[in-house]
Amino acid sequence: MKEDAIYMDNAATSWPKPPSVLEAMVFYQERIGASAGRGGYRRAIDASRLIFDAREAVAGLFGVTDSKRIIFTLNCTEALNIVLRGWLREGDRVVTTSMEHNSVARPLNHLKQERGIEVVYVPCSPEGLLDPDDVARALKAETRLVAVIHASNVCGAVNDVVAVGRICRERGVPFLVDAAQSAGAIPIEAGETNADFLAFPGHKGLMGPLGTGVLYVGPDVRPEPLYQGGTGTDSDQTFQPEALPDYYEAGSHNAIGVAGLKAACEFVAEVTPKAMGAHKARLAERFVAAVDEVPGVTYYGPRDFSRQAGVCSVKLEGMDAAMVGHRLDADYGIMARTGLHCSPLAHRTLGTIDSGTVRFSFGYYNDEEQVDVAVRALAEIARGKGR
Ligand SMILES: Cc1ncc(COP(=O)(O)O)c(C=O)c1O
Repeated sequence: MKEDAIYMDNAATSWPKPPSVLEAMVFYQERIGASAGRGGYRRAIDASRLIFDAREAVAGLFGVTDSKRIIFTLNCTEALNIVLRGWLREGDRVVTTSMEHNSVARPLNHLKQERGIEVVYVPCSPEGLLDPDDVARALKAETRLVAVIHASNVCGAVNDVVAVGRICRERGVPFLVDAAQSAGAIPIEAGETNADFLAFPGHKGLMGPLGTGVLYVGPDVRPEPLYQGGTGTDSDQTFQPEALPDYYEAGSHNAIGVAGLKAACEFVAEVTPKAMGAHKARLAERFVAAVDEVPGVTYYGPRDFSRQAGVCSVKLEGMDAAMVGHRLDADYGIMARTGLHCSPLAHRTLGTIDSGTVRFSFGYYNDEEQVDVAVRALAEIARGKGR
């Protein structure tokens, strides 16, 4: 990698990670190493303690009082699948949005075939925003779940999940928030959102390592686990222990990842999600103001930057997104994602399904100078020039 390379794909996974995250992972591997809950010797107990402390750190960041309700997963996709596959039954009705990621849309489509569920997609605005009243109008007595993306991975649009949660609570419908792009970047209090399920990755805005994800499961819901297996508890039983978090956490933990996630949560708590989000929104605002001045470049997404999670999609007139991405990388050392960003639904909503977009997703370690470099590069590519 070039030394002056600029990473702007934080919506895929954040990079770089805080040094404390790397140190925690190395410490775990060098000094602990054992599998949590699998032994009575000191290092195995240290590993269990670490997993417990990490659960507490995540719970603290999301206003969850009972950390047993924090389930560690491989990524956000697995957390979402536990809810969708574990909660929805034959013939259930689900209300969701026209901005969902494939991690929600694909399981729902499969469940349509497998279990005959009905899926209602509430349309969002061309900027990617959901009107909570549209969700209220879409609810029926038999609706068993509302699933809403908090912030779009395509255009950064931030939905008012507190308003949606209030509606769901009033109507008694369980509520799932896909917080993949908001966790760590927007303050989220589980209680305030009225969310029964919060699914998020550890490796994006929370700045933890790849291979980490989280599901918060509220007290009134109990989806079936995706799989069963060893937990290190109730080992005389051949059925899965009922107690949380073991019910959902079969098999050895990704303890090295969880060690990193704990340090990451401590880092985010120190900076605060509010400050993290404000930084990304500021960079997005600067980026959009500058690309608006560049002929041939169109921005897709909200212009109210209090509702922008720092994910900016653009198209260059007459140019293939993949080619633009290649030029950004090869000629300018800028890493941005191109094409359809795992969300054909969102691209249809935004009107970019034909060729997708070039997506710049900002992170804590990006700065204004890098944003200016990216815009200058886009301007040169749009003018048909370049290095
Ligand atoms: C909105 C949204 N939901 C879900 C996911 C899936 O997250 P993960 O890659 O951690 O499985 C992503 C990933 O980009 C996302 O942006």
